[in-house]
Amino acid sequence: MRSALLYTFVVFVLTYTRVAANPLSDKAIKRINSKQKIWTAGRNFPEQTSRKYISNLAGTLKDDTQQNLQLINHPIDLTVELPDSFDPRDKWSKCTSLNEIRDQGACASCWAVAAVAAMTDRYCIFSKEKQQFHFSAEDLISCCETCGLGCVKGLHFAAWEYWTKLGLVSGGNYNSSEGCKPYNTPPGENFETEEMPSSSRIVDISSCKMFCESSYNVKYRNDKRYGDRAYIIERNENQIKIELYFNGPVEGVMEVYTDFLNYKYGVYNYTEGESIGHHSVKILGWGEEHGHKYWLVANTWGKGWGDEGFFKIIRGVNHCGIEDSIVAGEPIIFSLSLKKEVYKF
Ligand SMILES: *[C@@H]1O[C@H](CO)[C@@H](O)[C@H](O)[C@H]1NC(C)=O
Ligand SMILES: *[C@@H]1O[C@H](CO)[C@@H](O)[C@H](O)[C@H]1NC(C)=O
Repeated sequence: MRSALLYTFVVFVLTYTRVAANPLSDKAIKRINSKQKIWTAGRNFPEQTSRKYISNLAGTLKDDTQQNLQLINHPIDLTVELPDSFDPRDKWSKCTSLNEIRDQGACASCWAVAAVAAMTDRYCIFSKEKQQFHFSAEDLISCCETCGLGCVKGLHFAAWEYWTKLGLVSGGNYNSSEGCKPYNTPPGENFETEEMPSSSRIVDISSCKMFCESSYNVKYRNDKRYGDRAYIIERNENQIKIELYFNGPVEGVMEVYTDFLNYKYGVYNYTEGESIGHHSVKILGWGEEHGHKYWLVANTWGKGWGDEGFFKIIRGVNHCGIEDSIVAGEPIIFSLSLKKEVYKF
């Protein structure tokens, strides 16, 4: 009897503390900072941010069986050229999109936003820094039927495949009126409501508009730019580095735990909390900080999150699965002479 009561009490306490523990509380932030010193936690989201909003932050369907991209294998002797640290903003300084941080808002579109961010960088890099083309996440979210469910969840592999088959138009950020199809979801709204934000849209044929904003004077069809090919990169630190160094940023997927929501700076290493799902990000470079090897990564949660939108994460040990499913591709550079300017290994 007594042990039954004790048992009930213990279960009650465990259940209660589980529900009460807010991963965004000041207490949680303090606790993370006391547990380790390699990264620093701070406030990125309001303490009362809803679970719904948080679950939208990680909107990637991680299903490696649903992709049929080619696996690329770079000649390993290329590693002799690789520096200890690499930031593509130094190598391709005219490609301004490398500094950009996009904001997915309350749309579970990381799979699309991180993809077009890398495609945009690559378009500039492959044009030898001569052309910029800001790929539209909106076009991908609303028109790619094989990608998944638009603002509800999607497959990052499918995004790259779609780019090679049907192409993507241009589009600026929310409210920018730039390009053919600017982003439709405002940044950081409805943090605290448990309702599904109005901007959460499941993709279906009806939401795919085959025309541009009236302010943009180009036909939808004529604005499309295509990928020449898309491929996956082996789960291997050197293979990923070669790809980043010679071709530019890639898209990767990581498992996100609640502590990551509070990342401010340093080299992220999982400390505490439960998984909220899989999240697509743009990996752009690498380095070493206080003896910890890291990947340099751009997030899609706006400039106010983390280190001005960027973060570092432990490199070389497939931390949170970040080295598992790296995807990239080569753009076809538009030129008046219709000559493709694509270099290959
Ligand atoms: C977007 O533009 C509209 C109209 O100009 C304005 O009312 C709104 O505040 C803007 N939203 C953001 C998030 O900038
Ligand atoms: C990361 O955290 C784990 C335990 O959570 C620890 O064993 C490991 O040493 C940490 N890595 C670094 C580089 O500090």
